[in-house]
Amino acid sequence: MSVLVTGGTGYIGSHTVAELLAKRYYVIILDNLSNSKRDVVDSIEKITGRTPQFVEGDIRDKALVGRILQEEPIEAVIHFAGSKAVGESVRMPLEYYHNNVYGTICLLETMRDAGCKSIVFSSSATVYGGENVSPLREDMPEGRTTNPYGTTKLTIEKILRELCVSDPEWSVSLLRYFNPIGAHKSGLIGEFPNGEPNNLMPYITQVAAKKLKKLKVFGSDYNTPDGTGVRDYIHVVDLAKGHIRALERVLGRTGCETFNLGTGQGYSVLEIVKSFVRVTGQKVPYDIAPRREGDIATCYSDPSLAEKELGWKAELGLDEMCEDSWRWEEQLNQEA
Ligand code: NAD
Ligand code: UD1
Repeated sequence: MSVLVTGGTGYIGSHTVAELLAKRYYVIILDNLSNSKRDVVDSIEKITGRTPQFVEGDIRDKALVGRILQEEPIEAVIHFAGSKAVGESVRMPLEYYHNNVYGTICLLETMRDAGCKSIVFSSSATVYGGENVSPLREDMPEGRTTNPYGTTKLTIEKILRELCVSDPEWSVSLLRYFNPIGAHKSGLIGEFPNGEPNNLMPYITQVAAKKLKKLKVFGSDYNTPDGTGVRDYIHVVDLAKGHIRALERVLGRTGCETFNLGTGQGYSVLEIVKSFVRVTGQKVPYDIAPRREGDIATCYSDPSLAEKELGWKAELGLDEMCEDSWRWEEQLNQEA
């Protein structure tokens, strides 16, 4: 069975490709390497003993994507390709709409023309906005997005839902990720930092590695048990496994479904720092800083729909997330 994975050399894509190869899927990666490296393919090969086909190119290149879909009997697409930096999206909204929304439209048009109508899409918990109260359930109304990145995810979800209404042959799984962290146990694949990290875990690992001086804890006066923000951190390998289940689902039925991929467990910023320090033995100095604009106090999932319908449940705990994030950071520093 052949699967096209757009963005397959990226952070979540590479872990998913490793899981797909382990399950004996034939994988074609399409990635323009705007936020990843070609070597990731070699690392995936080392982990799995199998080689995915790699095509360097852009999802907006309809001629290229059309050729891939014609040459290979691709049954489904897992679509990770896109731009994901919230702050950058505020500065460059046109680039974000072009890459994420227009890029997805190009991909969908090409898929339709080739008769390949099954897709798993990388959405985000950001579509719930700040109005809904955690635990967040898929049947809650979408919230107001606070940045162009979030709006691209909400828009693509709508496009995919409307596509399924227009043509009952489409089969779509919208996966709303909570906060992916961690890396593969091998230390061979993980998230590549792009400038100073915005997200909590890469910031912590870089402070521990002494690349950054101190963590700023954004806000200690939220209405949470210790006053710091609460999120649903999920190990990237668990997340990758969720994609295999979603893929099996889109191959077996039509229509559009939405699933949270989270653990259902919220941890505060200070709980994450404490666990990281305990598990790795590293020091993570921090200061309490003002709240970050756009942040909400608490965001965690109700993951029960994915368990019921996909038979998927996150298995790895916070200690493994911290341990594996740190192993990846150390390995990056050895390379440098
Ligand atoms: P990533 O940047 O590591 O991976 C994305 C990959 O897509 C990169 O390898 C990049 O080179 C490629 N790419 C970008 N634009 C492309 C284009 N036009 N054509 C071909 N390739 C292109 O990001 P990630 O963390 O692995 O995220 C994957 C997806 O999941 C993204 O759509 C992201 O928005 C979504 N998501 C991520 C998170 C997160 O916290 N990492 C949370 C929610 C949703
Ligand atoms: C952020 C994005 C979200 C995106 C997600 C995954 C914002 C407002 N939201 O979510 O759209 O889908 O990343 O890429 O940017 N924190 C600190 N200090 C730091 C960094 C973070 O205290 O240096 C805190 C935050 O205030 C938050 C928690 O850590 O409470 C997690 O932050 P982060 O990793 O950036 O994820 P989100 O804000 O949940």
